[in-house]
Amino acid sequence: MPETTRTQVVIVGAGPAGLMISQMLANRGVDSVAIDIRSREEIENTHRAGILEAQAVQMLDDEKVSDRYRTEGYEHEGTDIRVNGVSNRINFKELVGATVWLYPQTDVFIDLANARERDGGDVRFGVSDVKVLDEYSDTPGVSFVDADGNQQEVRGDFLVGSDGSRSICRFLIPEEGRHQYFREYPFAWFGIMCEAPMSYDELIYATSAKGFALISQRTESVQRMYLQCNPSDDMHSWSEDQLWSEFQARLEGPDGFQLKTGPIFERTLLPFRSFVQEPMQHGRIVLAGDAAHTVPPTGARGLNLALSDARALATRLAEAAKANDVSKLDGYQEAALKRIWRAQNFSYWMTTMLHSLPDENPYDYKRRLGELEMVLGHKSGRTHLAEAYSGWPNEEDGL
Ligand code: PHB
Repeated sequence: MPETTRTQVVIVGAGPAGLMISQMLANRGVDSVAIDIRSREEIENTHRAGILEAQAVQMLDDEKVSDRYRTEGYEHEGTDIRVNGVSNRINFKELVGATVWLYPQTDVFIDLANARERDGGDVRFGVSDVKVLDEYSDTPGVSFVDADGNQQEVRGDFLVGSDGSRSICRFLIPEEGRHQYFREYPFAWFGIMCEAPMSYDELIYATSAKGFALISQRTESVQRMYLQCNPSDDMHSWSEDQLWSEFQARLEGPDGFQLKTGPIFERTLLPFRSFVQEPMQHGRIVLAGDAAHTVPPTGARGLNLALSDARALATRLAEAAKANDVSKLDGYQEAALKRIWRAQNFSYWMTTMLHSLPDENPYDYKRRLGELEMVLGHKSGRTHLAEAYSGWPNEEDGL
């Protein structure tokens, strides 16, 4: 016989979206159990996005998660878009009165996992054999084998699918009404982590005839960088010297910019995809974060969107759970999808504007330079970019 647990909300997927929802529910007096097939260590060692909009770090404060970002993160007032070696600074602070924070997703996860533990939250990592039970009943749940090998069953009044881009929960939305919108791109990013000092104090998005590169950071001595490549390129076989000269070539310019280099200790290939599934709710089942949508990393929207889903969902879900009333979820997906589609457009736009297509002809290339000039050379263009990158105001979206 399985050990059974009764809760109000079952959360499948304990990444940043699932844990933030669990934390927000707890702060509003609602119990949840969150499960994840990955161990805590595995999630902590998966390197993901690095940029949080100010409204996202504000949630860490408001929901009493942690204020570690203030001491270990870096506040950026702008970013640099480098076009064929010429720097164009987008000053978020001046253009739209906003800043962003370099505070990696792994740290957000660590803070959330610690906060749930501190507050007595029920989070089970490293579970296996997860099955969703009775998803269309009044008591949906999951069965699984816990990290100690014991058979478990958890039942709730609602079930949140926040189980990431390889979601099983998205298939709980009945097929008749389910729409999946999808786009792939003919390029990828090759990401590295290296031990080196910072080359610059903000991020550099560099586009050049040789392709795109992003110079990001983690700490004073650890840096994160990406190179545009072909999804089928065997970048893992490149020597460190080859990688560094490719980075340098994409950044080279009249200002004599020199990238600071050092030993590379991690290499990963990131495929580029855009994806949205609608609807995000069916009865007592709701989706949040990557389970419902993916964006390519160019606009730094992924984690921010997952957290804005949590913001749109948590208060409504807390009300729904307290009253055991599904109608209190009304408005969630409308609010979330408005921002999701806007972020889809921004991420697509940044991606296509900054990357060269494998078959880009001279016309396409010159047109793309024209687009960059139109955006970077005019205040209205820079403002548009700054507003989207630093996050649209919540109030406007009813979040
Ligand atoms: C990162 O630091 O990993 C990062 C930052 C900005 C992006 C994508 C990734 O747009």
